[in-house]
Amino acid sequence: MTAELIDGKAFAQQLRGRVADAASRFHKDAGRIPGLAVVLVGEDPASSVYVKSKGKACLEAGMKSIEHRLPDTTNQADLIALVEQLNADDHVDGILVQLPLPGQIDDKAVIAAIDPAKDVDGFHVVNAGRLAVGEDALVPCTPLGCLMLLKDRMGDLTGLDAVVIGRSNIVGKPMAQLLLAESCTVTIAHSRTKDLAAVVRRADIVVAAVGRPEMVKGDWIKPGAVVIDVGINRVDVGEGKTKLVGDVAFDEAAAIASAVTPVPGGVGPMTIAVLLRNTVVAARARLGLAKDASL
Ligand code: GUN
Repeated sequence: MTAELIDGKAFAQQLRGRVADAASRFHKDAGRIPGLAVVLVGEDPASSVYVKSKGKACLEAGMKSIEHRLPDTTNQADLIALVEQLNADDHVDGILVQLPLPGQIDDKAVIAAIDPAKDVDGFHVVNAGRLAVGEDALVPCTPLGCLMLLKDRMGDLTGLDAVVIGRSNIVGKPMAQLLLAESCTVTIAHSRTKDLAAVVRRADIVVAAVGRPEMVKGDWIKPGAVVIDVGINRVDVGEGKTKLVGDVAFDEAAAIASAVTPVPGGVGPMTIAVLLRNTVVAARARLGLAKDASL
């Protein structure tokens, strides 16, 4: 392996430290601590684990965590009524409705009901639109975390060729917008892209968020490129055992890239750290306080 490992876990830990300091400054300015409400519908085990980690991270950063767990039979109107109650609650600065939602509920309708000023996931069309036109926005946590890792590693990204593999509203599209705002030349590729290998070979920056285990091969990577792997895929390794792999064939890519994020321990830990950061950013903005420069 020649590539350096990008240690997302360490970076996320530092960011969480800065968020804790910023939360304490907010407390001084506002007379209360920032609050994050997380709503989980149903009992999906993976979602349950995420929600628990979010609550714990919130408390560790000196913030208030409000958790609502609803049965998987909850109907859309009741969920939207809860969102509206949280919109109206002055002690709630951020609202996150854990996805996926059960089939009887339309994700889009629920996201649309969240006050854009409290939309710490950055999923509301108002925030997506603001990001696209270069206005202040709450930005989705995972792509913002990827950008932080890239800038920490590479400094100024101006003029670099970036390929984002994946076109989801949660990662691919906002990631492309963020890289464009950094003056990269951005290509959004996806599972249907013709000759994906050739497209990826042009890139100084590769962000893989396609959700297919080890799809991006080492010989697709331009020597010296920086590779950010957003994928978290559980695969069978025989004898009833499983392991987590990314969307990039890690060992192959690490032999060619200059730096690469591992799975686990790369992008994953950044998501919660950025969620906490977005909550403090939202809290300050809602109260008309100046931005906290440390975030
Ligand atoms: N489910 C998986 N990741 C996320 C996320 O970042 N936000 C929400 N709301 N749900 C998710």
